[in-house]
Amino acid sequence: MTKRMPASNHRPLFLHHAEQLLTLAGPPVPRRCADLDDLGIVRDGAVLVAEGKIVAVGATRELRGEAQRRKARAIDCRGQVVMPGFVDSHTHLVFAGSRVDDYEQRLRGRSYEEIAAAGGGIGLSARLLRDASARALTVQASAFLDQMAAHGTTTVEVKTGYGLDVANEIKTLEVIRGLRRVSALDLVPTLLAAHAVPPEYRGGANGGVGAYVDLVCERLIPEVSRRQLAEFVDCFCETIAFRLEDCRRVLTTGLRHGLALRIHAEQLGRTGAARLAIELNAASADHLDHLTMQDLRALARSNVVATLVPGANFHLGLMSYARGRQLIDAGAAVALATDFNPGTSPTLNMQFVLALACDAMRFTPAEAISAATINAAYSLRRHHWCGSLEPGKQADLAVMAVDDYRKIPYYFGVNHCVLTVKRGRVIRGSDE
Ligand code: NIG
Ligand code: FE
Repeated sequence: MTKRMPASNHRPLFLHHAEQLLTLAGPPVPRRCADLDDLGIVRDGAVLVAEGKIVAVGATRELRGEAQRRKARAIDCRGQVVMPGFVDSHTHLVFAGSRVDDYEQRLRGRSYEEIAAAGGGIGLSARLLRDASARALTVQASAFLDQMAAHGTTTVEVKTGYGLDVANEIKTLEVIRGLRRVSALDLVPTLLAAHAVPPEYRGGANGGVGAYVDLVCERLIPEVSRRQLAEFVDCFCETIAFRLEDCRRVLTTGLRHGLALRIHAEQLGRTGAARLAIELNAASADHLDHLTMQDLRALARSNVVATLVPGANFHLGLMSYARGRQLIDAGAAVALATDFNPGTSPTLNMQFVLALACDAMRFTPAEAISAATINAAYSLRRHHWCGSLEPGKQADLAVMAVDDYRKIPYYFGVNHCVLTVKRGRVIRGSDE
C-alpha cells in the first residue's frame, strides 16, 4: 500500500520542463462559465515542493536557481503534462465482494430497480458487508486506493451506505478511519446510512422506513458526530430509497450535529432533492439526471456544487446523461467524480470520467479538468489545501505522459498517469 510518511522526511522536489503545467490558479471561488475553461497553463513549467507543500510555481528558468539552492531532487517532465492530483468527490469505496452477477443480469435485460427489488442491488452489498470483517474490507479498499493513486487521484471522498444498521455503518466508518491513518491519499468520510431501506424494515416491518430514519437521526448521527467519524452526511433521495421528507430529517439532523451536506439527487427520477440541497446549503448535489430547467437554473444561481457522475450512466447503459453542458452555460459550479461503487459505477479512473464528460456531456477538456480538481475540492471544502497548484497548498500532483492536456480524454481508456505526488512525496511512478 502507498504509505503515509511524515512530511519532514522528504527532500524537496523539483518537477521541471513540463510541456504544460496546469496550475488551475485563480481567485478563491468555485469556477463557473468561462473560468472553467482556463487552466492557468505555464509552458515549460516547473513546481518546487518542500515539506509537503508547494513553494513556487512558474517557468522552469525562473525556478531553477531556488531549486538548486534547496538541493531539490529534480524530475524531468519534458513532453508531459503536470497537473493537480484529481479530487474524487463521490465514491462508495468500502464494499465487500462485487456485484458482477447484477451486472450480467442487467446485460440480459433486467433493470437496476428490478434487480434491487429481487434481492440484488444495494441490499446484496449490505448482506455482504455485514458478513465481512473490518480487515477484509480494509484489504479490498486499500487495493482500490492504490489503483486510484496510480491513475492520478490524490483526494477521495468515501461514503458508508452498505452497513444500514448502527453496528455496520460504524464498522464502515472505522474502516475509513483506519485507511486514513495508513493511506498516502487524503480520505474524506461521509455517512450515507440513508442509502437503502434495510431488509429488516422493508414492507413496514419493525416500524418501517420511519423507524429506520429514527435510528439514523437519534442514534447514528449523534454517535458519528461525537466520535468525529464523518465530515458529511448524505442521503439517497429516490422512490426506491428515501422520500424527500425523510431526507430532510436526516440532513437537518446532520447539520445540527455539525456535519456538512451532500445529496444523491434526481438520479433515477425527479424528487425535488436538488431544491432541498439549495434550501439547506448543501456542499454538493450529485447525479442530477432528472433536473427540470427550473431546477437547473436555481442550482446554477446557488453555491451548491453540481457533481456529475457519468460513469454511472455509462455502466447502467443509459442513453442519456445529465445536462452538463447546460449546467455550465447556466453558470453552475460543476464537479466530476467517479461514483466508484459496485452497482452503478465500478470505475475508479478519473481520466475515463473526463472522457465521458467530454464525449457524452460536451464538456471541453479544460472544463472537465477544472471540474475534476478545483471544483471538486470546493465541494469537499478542501479548496485551501488541494485542487490547484499554488504556493502554500499541499503538493498533490499528477504527471501525465501526454504533451497536451486535451489528449487525456482524447486517448480514452488508457492510463496516462506516470507519476503521482502526494504531500510532496512520490507515491506512484518510477521514483517509487
Ligand atoms: O451513486 N445511487 C445510489 N448509490 C449509488 C449506487 C450504489 C449501488 O448500487 O451499490 C450511486 O449510483
Ligand atoms: Fe453514489
